[in-house]
Amino acid sequence: MNNTLLLVDDEKQILRSLKRLFIDEDYDILTAMSGEEGLEVLNENDVAVIISDQMMPGMRGAEFLEKSREITPDSIRMVLSGYAEIDSAIDAINLGGAFRYISKPWNDADIISSVKEAFARYNLQKEHDRLEKLTIQQNEELNSFNSKLEDALDKRTQDLAQTKKYVVAVLHSIAEGIAVIDQNGTIQDCNEAFLAMYGYTFDEVKNMELHTLSVDDETERMISYIKNSQQGDTIKIESIHQRKDGSQFPIEATTVIMHNNDENHQSLGLTHAMRVMSIRDTTNQKQNEQKIKDSLEEKAVLLREIYHRVKNNMQVIASMLKLQARYIDDDHYADIFHDCEHRIQSMALVHEKLYRSKDLDKIELRSYLKTLIHDLFESYGVSGRRITLSIHADELFVSLDTAIPVGLITNELISNTLKYAFPENRQGTIDITLKTLNEEELFLQTKDNGAGMKTDFDISASNSLGLKLVRTLTRQLQGSLEFNGDDGTEFNLTFKDIGKK
Ligand SMILES: Nc1ncnc2c1ncn2[C@@H]1O[C@H](COP(=O)(O)OP(=O)(O)O)[C@@H](O)[C@H]1O
Ligand SMILES: [Mg+2]
Repeated sequence: MNNTLLLVDDEKQILRSLKRLFIDEDYDILTAMSGEEGLEVLNENDVAVIISDQMMPGMRGAEFLEKSREITPDSIRMVLSGYAEIDSAIDAINLGGAFRYISKPWNDADIISSVKEAFARYNLQKEHDRLEKLTIQQNEELNSFNSKLEDALDKRTQDLAQTKKYVVAVLHSIAEGIAVIDQNGTIQDCNEAFLAMYGYTFDEVKNMELHTLSVDDETERMISYIKNSQQGDTIKIESIHQRKDGSQFPIEATTVIMHNNDENHQSLGLTHAMRVMSIRDTTNQKQNEQKIKDSLEEKAVLLREIYHRVKNNMQVIASMLKLQARYIDDDHYADIFHDCEHRIQSMALVHEKLYRSKDLDKIELRSYLKTLIHDLFESYGVSGRRITLSIHADELFVSLDTAIPVGLITNELISNTLKYAFPENRQGTIDITLKTLNEEELFLQTKDNGAGMKTDFDISASNSLGLKLVRTLTRQLQGSLEFNGDDGTEFNLTFKDIGKK
């Protein structure tokens, strides 16, 4: 609020009475005794209302008021004038832009209310100006804010378009077929690889139900799982699908729920129910798998064939030894031939068991040893009634490298029993035990209740070929051999499956 009032009059008396008039008002009152002085005051003060006398020596009131307009154009000007000076008062109003003309002598109440009104008008005008300025400024700010907002929006739109372009480019550059499906399994979007894989155009697959592309139930099963599943779990299936031209091919598909906790996804218009499905044509993979399977099968057939031939060849050798033995008159030498024949038979038997076994590199030891021992009974012409055989064995699979030495050892030990333990057709028993001792070691015991060996028999010192062979083969099996001659003859062999991978 400006409440500064300037009074200009050449008569001190009038200035004083005017001042007194406004004693009750809250005005800052400045005075000047001439127009020149008044202009000086205006130059230094911010004045709201000016009351000037018209008739003054030197500069007259109208001239002063006119000049004052240049200094303070907004101030409210009033002129004091006598009746005789009516013409010059009109001048003051026209030239000096005076707001009021007050005639002398004045009416106190009149002048007080006029000045009050002048102040009100001045301050109202000032407030109006201030508000108008504020409005203009705010308008400008609003305009600049608006245009900044538009710029930002443009940039955002551009960025988004760029991102979308990028995502689309990535989608179409992926070699795997990608389809976006909704929770009902309806195709919403897909990439080029997908279209190439099935031979459809985008318009043809858009809104197609994914499972109609399949010829088995797998895909439909997956879709119905998705429909009922609240979780976003990843699902992988193998299925047979069909191209537009009716040709079929195997696929492997993985579906993942589309994550939408990222604002970028939402702005691309994706909802939580969408899933991304990546589909791979597995024709080549399946063909390769089949090739490998075929070739493995072929190898197995070949290996079986080889085992079979090895077995046959060994049997031929054994037969030749057997035939040759018939031409030897000396029993001792004939026995040597028979021993060799049995050794070769035991090896031939390993190969026979191998080519009949499901696993081409494993032999079931219990069945192998059973057959081996029965064959020896037959070869030595021993009946099961004279010598009772009992076998306690676990089913045990060992490698070829283990089966052959174990077979040869058994052949030596059982041959000896059949030859020496029960002379003169005596009766007796043979007990065989085969079992696993621990993760590494196996255990084989052969035991007869026959004549037994000399009490001072030392297996490590025996020089005859059979037991020497047993010792050597035990070493080969990284095993140990114990002899017990307390009652009959007992051999305990602990060994390892040396060919085990
Ligand atoms: N179970 C057995 N019962 C009685 N005597 C045996 C037994 N095993 C081996 N022997 C004796 O030990 C000897 C050595 O056996 P071995 O080294 O196989 O030679 P070979 O059988 O050629 O005589 C045999 O000649 C036999 O006298
Ligand atoms: Mg022997």
